[in-house]
Amino acid sequence: METNKKTGRYGRIFTQLEELVRKTNDKNARMATIAAVLHHKMDYFFWTGFYLLVEGELVVRTYQGPVACQVLEKGKGVCWAAINGNKTVIVQDVHLFPGHIACDSRSSSEIAVPLHDCHGRITGVLDVDSREKGSFDETDREWLEKIVCLI
Ligand code: SME
Repeated sequence: METNKKTGRYGRIFTQLEELVRKTNDKNARMATIAAVLHHKMDYFFWTGFYLLVEGELVVRTYQGPVACQVLEKGKGVCWAAINGNKTVIVQDVHLFPGHIACDSRSSSEIAVPLHDCHGRITGVLDVDSREKGSFDETDREWLEKIVCLI
């Protein structure tokens, strides 16, 4: 998607989500709302959801899209790279990413954004897959990092 269009769309989504998350402090409700809004408003989002750290494992939580792996093999793949590096990871072609975990063979590019608790400790990731290569860029990173702060 062209940058100006992407920025405009994220801006409108962010305003909508700011309103929606005010209705509850419940983090699960907020994550579910964020996944649903993003998934249905961003047409290149093929899988949109959350993996949270549970006793040292990355376990799937609320998501939209095709059925996904429930637990991600430790230290492998894009989500674990975001956790271990404590920063957003953008992969233009998942088939070239060593250790990529293919929950669905139709995914081609991916972004994983770390989540933090109020003490700054890492708690999981927001993960988004696209069917096209090279779908995610700095605009996605900037806005998705802002959006996860709404949780
Ligand atoms: N591809 C991810 C696994 C999660 S799915 O994309 C939903 C990874 O390599 O961590």
